Amino acid sequence: MRLTGLLYLLIPIVSHHCSASPGILNGWLNTMKKFRDVFQFQDEWISQQSKISEDEYDFIIVGSGSAGSVIANRLSEVSDWKVLLLEVGKGENLFTSVPALAPVFQLTHYNWNYLMEYQENFARGMEGRRLAWPRGRALGGTSVINYMIYTRGNPRDFDTWAIAGNPGWSYYEVLPYYLKSERCRLQQFQEGFHNDQGLLGVENIYHSNVLDAFIAGGEELGYDQVDYNSDRQIGFSRIQANVIKGRRNSVAKAFLHPIRDRPNLRILTSALATKIIFAGNKAVGVEYTHNFLKFEAKARKEVIVCAGALASPQLMMLSGIGPRAHLNDLNIPVIADLPVGRNLHDHITYVGLNFLVNSTQTMSLPNVIKYFGEWAINGTGFDTSLGGVGGVAYIKTEVDENPDPSYPDMELLYVDGCLGSDAKITAETMRISEDSYNRYWRKIEGKPCWTIFPMLVHPKSIGYMELRSRNPTDHPKFYGNYLSDERDLRTMIAAIRFILTLAKTSKFKEYHTNFYDAPVPGCEYLTYDSDEYWQCAIETFSITLHHQVGTCKMGPNTDPEAVVNHNLQVYGVSNLRVADTSVIPKALTAHTNAPSIMVGEKASDIIKAAWGRLQ
Ligand SMILES: Cc1cc2nc3c(=O)[nH]c(=O)nc-3n(C[C@H](O)[C@H](O)[C@H](O)COP(=O)(O)OP(=O)(O)OC[C@H]3O[C@@H](n4cnc5c(N)ncnc54)[C@H](O)[C@@H]3O)c2cc1C
Ligand SMILES: *[C@@H]1O[C@H](CO)[C@@H](O)[C@H](O)[C@H]1NC(C)=O
Ligand SMILES: *[C@@H]1O[C@H](CO)[C@@H](O)[C@H](O)[C@H]1NC(C)=O
Repeated sequence: MRLTGLLYLLIPIVSHHCSASPGILNGWLNTMKKFRDVFQFQDEWISQQSKISEDEYDFIIVGSGSAGSVIANRLSEVSDWKVLLLEVGKGENLFTSVPALAPVFQLTHYNWNYLMEYQENFARGMEGRRLAWPRGRALGGTSVINYMIYTRGNPRDFDTWAIAGNPGWSYYEVLPYYLKSERCRLQQFQEGFHNDQGLLGVENIYHSNVLDAFIAGGEELGYDQVDYNSDRQIGFSRIQANVIKGRRNSVAKAFLHPIRDRPNLRILTSALATKIIFAGNKAVGVEYTHNFLKFEAKARKEVIVCAGALASPQLMMLSGIGPRAHLNDLNIPVIADLPVGRNLHDHITYVGLNFLVNSTQTMSLPNVIKYFGEWAINGTGFDTSLGGVGGVAYIKTEVDENPDPSYPDMELLYVDGCLGSDAKITAETMRISEDSYNRYWRKIEGKPCWTIFPMLVHPKSIGYMELRSRNPTDHPKFYGNYLSDERDLRTMIAAIRFILTLAKTSKFKEYHTNFYDAPVPGCEYLTYDSDEYWQCAIETFSITLHHQVGTCKMGPNTDPEAVVNHNLQVYGVSNLRVADTSVIPKALTAHTNAPSIMVGEKASDIIKAAWGRLQ
């Protein structure tokens, strides 16, 4: 928090003085003016402006995140439906627009700051050996603090859902919903897989010279350059980003700003839903707190839970929908006995690879400041970099058991910069301990550097979550259970070896790429580069990439893990749906913002159809 406060103050000032150009300050002021609406889109403003303030609505949506914002937009298109959107967070500020500052917002009140429970043999290098599980708490949800990486997933992901007994969710049935949202301004893309008429910005961003080496390196190893958001995913690519003219395009900006004057939609921020109200087995409303007062809102038609994969299960369990034994332990009356909070899939990555280079184009705070003026005026340049992320690749490692040649088992995220590059901001978000940082990254601090994060896309290890108490403000208990299946470890090691090979390709050599091979703290006693060494390193410096899904799993009624059916209706009760990342049945070959937006688009049509209002 102290850090962010400082940045807010310093960036315009330093940026101005560094360049000694009055144009910069003018640009800054113009930007402030252009973004006036962002300042206006605040808490108090919304509550005052809301045209309706009643205690009865047709639909109540809990959570304004990637799915909830979309649903609020689409349902309020029906002018005689009254819609209430409840969100506990607040509106964005100007700085959430700067892509290069992406990591910073995890250190602010826009983050829920959840922590994973202690896991033996994991997070050894982290503060208190607890892993950060950040999550957005804002109008716009996690899309306000995420890295803006736009990925949809592999066709096989969705076909698997459909085959598992979820009609309507195959790749060619969900693709139209990805397209519906999209406002594509990419320079290069695969024809037939993009749309330029939607609301959600998808654009190219800053392109460093070392990123070219990443893509050339892929080619040298036999991988094509592809549009990874087409039906062909394996290959190397520049990142596609959720920005418009270089500014973050959160779901609040894409889906709520344009419709904030609709008279039939009430957006209430700083409102924490504490319980779904039932009459028998029928959901009839939501209990919430706002400004320390308790309220009840009635839903004539439906309650739609969009609080995300970590908070939707919490609200469900607090309301009596969850595993019977667990609810009994907490004396919560059971309304439906369902496996809520089980089946928690997540993506982990190893963050300990550092490659030193002689380029000046890698992530650093001086660079962010130096190029801030260009960003403010033109929306271009270094500060459009997604916190350093510029490239992505999908590969199949040599240990992959899946016979489908088009289905990757690893994603590689190319980052201009390492954990020693940005004044410890990223390291702090990851809770890297002071001691680990000093013993490992201190020696290369401030040196030009790049890294690749290998993301395990199809983990075999599955976690779960539970309530900590009946208090809705207590954070639940999260158990990642990472690497409990040995195949996951083998895939991670194979990916690291692939990256080491990639770093030796010719174009990387041109930048004098030099692998930093200091042993990871605590692993010095193992033979460097042996499998045992990498296991120790992975157990020390791996984190989540924040793609928790599956905690209110979608599945047929024959699936013992299912919580909702293919229409996202909760089993055993009526007038209640869940629509967000928690319904995604298993880990995707993707980051989860766009998939959740897709779920929101499809859920909206499902709901309109159910009430006879689908055009
Ligand atoms: C640091 C970070 C970086 C990421 N980077 C990327 C990326 O680059 N690309 C990508 O695709 N994905 C990324 N993700 C993941 C992605 O952003 C999320 O998976 C996705 O946004 C989740 O969408 P959702 O609809 O499930 O819920 P969310 O967007 O999390 O929305 C849930 C909302 O509900 C609100 N809420 C919760 N409980 C209550 C309650 N009881 N009452 C009222 N409101 C409540 C929350 O405050 C929140 O606003 C990232 C995630 C994190 C944490
Ligand atoms: C990096 O090294 C190459 C090859 O020696 C050289 O051409 C280039 O100027 C160097 N770049 C920087 C920023 O030092
Ligand atoms: C903004 O773009 C214009 C036109 O391309 C260019 O002349 C100007 O130098 C740019 N400003 C900055 C600060 O980069």
